[in-house]
Amino acid sequence: MSFLKEIQRRRTFGIVSHPDAGKTTLTEKLLLFGGAIQEAGAVKSNKIKKGATSDFMEIERQRGISVATSVLAFEYDGIKINILDTPGHKDFAEDTFRTLTAVDSVIVVIDVAKGVEEQTEKLVEVCRMRKIPIIVFINKLDREGKDAFDLLDEIEQKLGLRVSPLSFPIGMGYDFKGIYNIWEKNINLFSGDSRKNIEETIEISDLESEELKTIVGEKAANLLREEIELVQGIYPEFDKTEYLEGNLQPVFFGSALNNFGVRELLDCFVEIAPKPRPKQSEERLIKPEEKKFTGFVFKIHANMDPNHRDRLAFIKIVSGEFKRNTPYLHVRLNKKLKFSSPNAFFAEKKQIVDISYPGDIVGLHDTGNFKIGDTLTEGELINYKGIPSFSPEHFRYINNADPLKSKQLNKGIDQLMDEGVAQLFTLDLNGRKVIGTVGALQYEVIQYRLEHEYGAKCTYENLNVYKACWVEVNDQSDPEFEEFKRVKQRYLAKDKQGQLVFLSDSAFSLQMTEQKYPSIKFHYTSEF
Ligand code: G4P
Repeated sequence: MSFLKEIQRRRTFGIVSHPDAGKTTLTEKLLLFGGAIQEAGAVKSNKIKKGATSDFMEIERQRGISVATSVLAFEYDGIKINILDTPGHKDFAEDTFRTLTAVDSVIVVIDVAKGVEEQTEKLVEVCRMRKIPIIVFINKLDREGKDAFDLLDEIEQKLGLRVSPLSFPIGMGYDFKGIYNIWEKNINLFSGDSRKNIEETIEISDLESEELKTIVGEKAANLLREEIELVQGIYPEFDKTEYLEGNLQPVFFGSALNNFGVRELLDCFVEIAPKPRPKQSEERLIKPEEKKFTGFVFKIHANMDPNHRDRLAFIKIVSGEFKRNTPYLHVRLNKKLKFSSPNAFFAEKKQIVDISYPGDIVGLHDTGNFKIGDTLTEGELINYKGIPSFSPEHFRYINNADPLKSKQLNKGIDQLMDEGVAQLFTLDLNGRKVIGTVGALQYEVIQYRLEHEYGAKCTYENLNVYKACWVEVNDQSDPEFEEFKRVKQRYLAKDKQGQLVFLSDSAFSLQMTEQKYPSIKFHYTSEF
């Protein structure tokens, strides 16, 4: 197959949802359709289950699963589909944000009873900012849930989306009779709950037909006709270009567990979802069709076995062909590297591949060369942008608890930060190290991994910080900036890239500082 055809047939996307909305179940059903797995229950949830085991053991379990589910690839109808895993747990939100830099589109899963939940709001906001095409799947239609129109309203208001329903439920919960598929213009009837196998559905093609009445009953048939008329009156008609530009979001209804509405979703997805998209580097826009390979690291996984300290760096291929045993330029280190065993992913298996194409993800064994955001090329000096750090929510001093192991501690901290487990800030005043995380869970992970993988011990000390703000000034020699640095010295730190960060201790003090130094800009993310 030609290089261009290989690009055309790739679809790389992520499924985002609030925990429990049904991401794992939907992923599994998609893999079943692709024939990549044979039975339900094969895909493990990457959820953090609290309670049963101590937290760090749970993290290790989760880490094992997330290595296996980082990329799930399968073929459907001649299309190569790469699903990138996104942790739903809020403490790992930053992982999900980074993964979103490597997807070309997303499917958002919403629980019909719970509606739009907090985690979904945050993730969709990031997708909207990046103009990532979104398809919405409203799940669990076999259960009692909210009214379909109310849900569509909620999605428009809370998520700021412009929806275009491509299917519509006939009844819900106990009365759930099936789905009218606006996209394919037919009806699929829900005939029970065969949970393990792919649901058999009866199809009829005309909404006005008498047959509809016989199958769903007169009341439901009339209601459906009215509702579809309303849908067509209220919501914009689906337009592929608008969807691809991130201005219109098609909505499907279904039940992942019952495998209902999933085929419709998948068929529409392969038809409309974008092939690998061009990506902006600091220097220029790179198109997938360009002959020369470029790619970037969006995720790093440490080996679970402490005796093998190697890690797996996940690279999204943006342009050209990535070949095994070929030297590529690691731009940040200005060093050529060759990879003898790049891993590609198929369902839950890894295998060594000779050649990969734009849209694909390869896992490269790494002994410490990679950081999240690094760029690989055939020689061109470009740097992909778009993997920002966000202000952490929690801040603690990290102290060395075993003076003989300070080297190990520093190395451990360094490598864990490269993996993106947390963020390190070094105070300007006294050089003390501060670890910032999105969730409290990460402190336990860091402590446990430092001890088990690096033989180092640490303790923490609370630090009262409200937000970390990256500081932007036009003129470093501006007297206002000089004064700011002098007055606020206690609150200033450097991030791992050496960028200046203001650790403000309250919303009020941040506001006062902003007012006092109007020429300085304060950002909640490292990219501005
Ligand atoms: P997540 O990855 O988004 O966190 O959600 P996951 O797929 O694990 O689904 C969360 C729970 O919702 C699971 O139940 C799952 O079986 C159920 N579920 C998913 N889709 C549907 C659906 O269409 N209808 C109904 N009724 N339930 C659905 P659980 O009890 O937490 O786990 P399990 O023991 O069933 O695996």
